[in-house]
Amino acid sequence: MEVSELRKAYASPGGGALEVLRGVSFALGAGEMLAVMGASGAGKSTLLHLLGGLDAADGGRARLGEIELTRAGGAQLARVRNEQVGFVFQFHHLLPDLSALENVALPLLVARRNPREARAAASAMLEAVGLGARASHRPGELSGGEQQRAAVARALVHAPRLVLADEPTGNLDARAGAEVAALLSTLARTRGAAVIVATHNEQLAAACDRTLFLKDGLLVEQL
Ligand SMILES: Nc1ncnc2c1ncn2[C@@H]1O[C@H](COP(=O)(O)OP(=O)(O)OP(=O)(O)O)[C@@H](O)[C@H]1O
Ligand SMILES: [Mg+2]
Repeated sequence: MEVSELRKAYASPGGGALEVLRGVSFALGAGEMLAVMGASGAGKSTLLHLLGGLDAADGGRARLGEIELTRAGGAQLARVRNEQVGFVFQFHHLLPDLSALENVALPLLVARRNPREARAAASAMLEAVGLGARASHRPGELSGGEQQRAAVARALVHAPRLVLADEPTGNLDARAGAEVAALLSTLARTRGAAVIVATHNEQLAAACDRTLFLKDGLLVEQL
């Protein structure tokens, strides 16, 4: 992934513009894991949203492989989002009425993969995150750490090129958080996905290859 001079401003409710990202640049290779830290309100979630095609930048470029995200139209962006990006959020966002297996299979079904293959791949992914014995549990029947591990399985099941994780351990105790961080890092590395983790957690950042800080709208090496 290559990002250069990415900019984003929001209209302030009181009038004027709030410049959140003022020229963010970085490059990230396949299998690499980058932590983005910075104060609350610094723009970490905003950056992940732009990179995941959930929101449009005001300027600059973001390229994922050969795809120019900042030039892509709505339909192409939706396809990139479904096929090339995996998301992990602070709260799992698993669908409550589906089993863990069905939740993990969902990205493959959205990408119109054969349902039987999708279930087999989801099952293997649940094994990989240590939830083989919980496949038929609904999210409400999983612990917090298990829910996040299922969310990691869902984010990686379709072999995305880019995984975006926004405070993926923010809701967990230290031990469950460390497990989720380790899984993200191992699975992403073995599958060659680039991972960007927005976090306030030093331990999680330490599990990444690199840490960059968002400060005054720029991504810098040190706070
Ligand atoms: N839709 C919006 N409209 C106007 N302002 C917004 C909008 N979304 C975010 N902001 C503002 O942009 C800034 C960056 O928000 P963002 O959510 O990216 O911060 P963050 O670094 O993820 O913070 P946190 O660590 O608290 O999650 C904040 O000051 C926020 O108030
Ligand atoms: Mg945030």
